[in-house]
Amino acid sequence: MAKLLLGHFVHPEELVDLDKKYEWYQKMRSESPICFDSKRNCWDVFTYQEVKKVVTDYKLFSSKRSEINVDSIIGMDPPEHTKKRSLVSKEFGHRHIKRLESSILSVTQQVLDDLANSHSSDIDVMNGLADRIPILVIMNLLGIHEDYFQEIKKWSKASTTRSHSDKRGIKNMKALKEGTYHLNQILEQIIKERQNNPGNDLISLMLSKNNNDLTFDELRDYCRAILVGGSETAVNLIGNFIYLLLTHPQEKEQLQKDLSLMPKAVEEALRYASSVQCINRIAIQDVTLGDQLIKAGQEVVVWLGSANRDENVFTDPEQFQIDRSPNPHLAFSQGIHTCLGNSLARLETKIIITTLLQRFPMIKLSRTKKPVPNTNFVFLGFDHLYVNLR
Ligand code: HEM
Repeated sequence: MAKLLLGHFVHPEELVDLDKKYEWYQKMRSESPICFDSKRNCWDVFTYQEVKKVVTDYKLFSSKRSEINVDSIIGMDPPEHTKKRSLVSKEFGHRHIKRLESSILSVTQQVLDDLANSHSSDIDVMNGLADRIPILVIMNLLGIHEDYFQEIKKWSKASTTRSHSDKRGIKNMKALKEGTYHLNQILEQIIKERQNNPGNDLISLMLSKNNNDLTFDELRDYCRAILVGGSETAVNLIGNFIYLLLTHPQEKEQLQKDLSLMPKAVEEALRYASSVQCINRIAIQDVTLGDQLIKAGQEVVVWLGSANRDENVFTDPEQFQIDRSPNPHLAFSQGIHTCLGNSLARLETKIIITTLLQRFPMIKLSRTKKPVPNTNFVFLGFDHLYVNLR
């Protein structure tokens, strides 16, 4: 099954202008919800029910997608996946994650103190806030020293690169390989340290619980999946959420008046500006999806960002409503590969945005410096997002 794939690495031609992505999704949902793109050599799926079918039916759609991710939990199928995921699923469960609340709050306060002391009137929240807290939290969880922050940030970002000009996806795959190589180097060193000198962290815990379930390389790959999974995606969610609030003043005010709405608001930010716009699978056998026949071995790209705006599931899907309920979005996917870090991402986002709004209630977008969205069609976010804190 392992082979080089392109679809998830190549920018679709229709998305040359990323600003128009929601128009494209809407058009595809109504005209051609499951269609084959011969340039990228993959299927694209846009409607909620079909996206859900692909991500939940692991007997028909495999996660073993390319030579690149076969080593990571994200690229495994059962029974291997079940065994590996169960090793830390408890540690990422809601109850366990709740215990991190005070440490997330203290990292957040520290970062906000640094911002408050800054003399600049326009602050780029993507460099100093949104990028710092989720990465520091996940490093803390794994027991990785803060000194590694810049390197981890750099190589996690490289792992999720999608360069617009890369027509065949070769550069993007190379960036992923390079990011993987450097993160492996860092993690190998840290795991060796923990073998000799265990601590209170997740790596030490995995080592102590490990009854030969994981080899050294497998443990390293697992930690890398957690590190990359918990960095760029969560960083972007924070930035996207801040932008949404600052461009929807009524909703911002509503939330500030009633902070108990925060959990619902986080869900709406996940739905409306999904950090991961699409993921992919491989058809294990010939399968009919809607009225299309997908052949065994073909790649299927499912657009979570489109499913989350499907008018057959969400009322007024193009509106950002912080009290939306129900909100069965697919931002964390569903099924056996549902985001392992979803409780952590939800908790840290809730803490960061609540603390930010309490500390800087007058926060607004900079009047002089425009936001700079990234050009990544998979990982939605900003390169720069300038705000005025007071
Ligand atoms: C807003 C933040 C996040 C979003 C939108 C997100 C999204 C996703 C999605 C869509 C998947 C499914 C991928 C697939 O099946 O192909 C996934 C899986 C995963 N995520 Fe997240 N993620 C986020 C935060 C995190 C965090 C904080 C962690 C850290 C623990 C994490 C770790 C993982 C791992 C390890 C997997 C693979 C799970 C498996 O294959 O069983 N993610 N994530």
